[in-house]
Amino acid sequence: MKLITILLGLSYCLSAQKPHLKEAVKFPLGSSVNPRLLNENEAYRNIATTEWTSLTAENHMKMMLIHPAADRFDFSKGDEIVNFATASGKRMHGHTLVWHNQVPQWMKDFQGDQKAWESLLKSHIQTVVSHYKGKIAGWDVVNESFLDDGSLRPSLWADHIPDYIAKSFQWAHESDPGAILFYNDYGQDGKPKKMQAILDLVADLKRRGIPIHGLGLQMHINVDSKRNELQEVLDKSIKTGLKIHLSELDIAVNPKNNPDFIYEEKVASAQAEQFNFVFKSYMKIPAAQQYGITFWNISDKDSWLRGYFKRPKEYPLLFDDKYAKKPAYTTLINSLHTLN
Ligand code: XIL
Repeated sequence: MKLITILLGLSYCLSAQKPHLKEAVKFPLGSSVNPRLLNENEAYRNIATTEWTSLTAENHMKMMLIHPAADRFDFSKGDEIVNFATASGKRMHGHTLVWHNQVPQWMKDFQGDQKAWESLLKSHIQTVVSHYKGKIAGWDVVNESFLDDGSLRPSLWADHIPDYIAKSFQWAHESDPGAILFYNDYGQDGKPKKMQAILDLVADLKRRGIPIHGLGLQMHINVDSKRNELQEVLDKSIKTGLKIHLSELDIAVNPKNNPDFIYEEKVASAQAEQFNFVFKSYMKIPAAQQYGITFWNISDKDSWLRGYFKRPKEYPLLFDDKYAKKPAYTTLINSLHTLN
């Protein structure tokens, strides 16, 4: 009885001392954010303020939103997020300069020779990076360039600009030599060819003296994702010596979008264990390589898996539809306390 009282007291003290996730880890921790929710939703804003030390714009620094017309950039919403980050003392991560997705129509319609395409992309990258120079710690310079079989993904950029990945890193570096530059991608676990293509890219860029400093592993994973495969991706990534960012973490529980799915205790606790695994593995990375962990969205309600993929019965994050901490949050913070 006495022992139980002491243990309860101890755990109370520990949780009273470290009530927020950001205090339970030694690396930057955050989520992607949406400026409308930051403005309108107090619970959302409170979590961003109290739980995180780092923020990423979910959409508002992507080409489609930040560069809506050939002769016009719109930094308004990106700036709002950066101002919020500055005012609340958070690190800002930039996402993303070059991607095949969320490209504005005018770029899709653009006609020109290789030189014209290069100058379009260079001026996009350099205008955005210069605008945020000194305010954004690191950039996802290039996002999702490889297919599962390891080949280069066909895209506007791959189709019109030979060696566009290397050039993009070079151009970003010219505009902000202090920024940490990342290659970001998803789904490397269980896809050895995709993983190898990324490692080959890193080796090639390094050999040529092209500035690349980090690898973003998106980590859109499932409750059933195999831990040995996830660990292998981490181990191979660490070996590059680059900084590692778990850049878009969420753990799907209903990936097949079963309409009758019930988020019951068994699957919720398996999900909590999966979160613990991801954090514990990340904590084993040398501190100098820990750029941080970023969740993709804050609560289940705002998850892109519900919106973008139309999966209403998905619950991939640590906060529920009412922005309350889920049991997975408590399991995680308790397990981190015992490690730190
Ligand atoms: C997603 C956003 O969350 C959605 O709101 C948007 O409609 C589509 O893009 N990989 C990425 C992110 O690098 O930019 C994507 O974000 C999710 C997948």
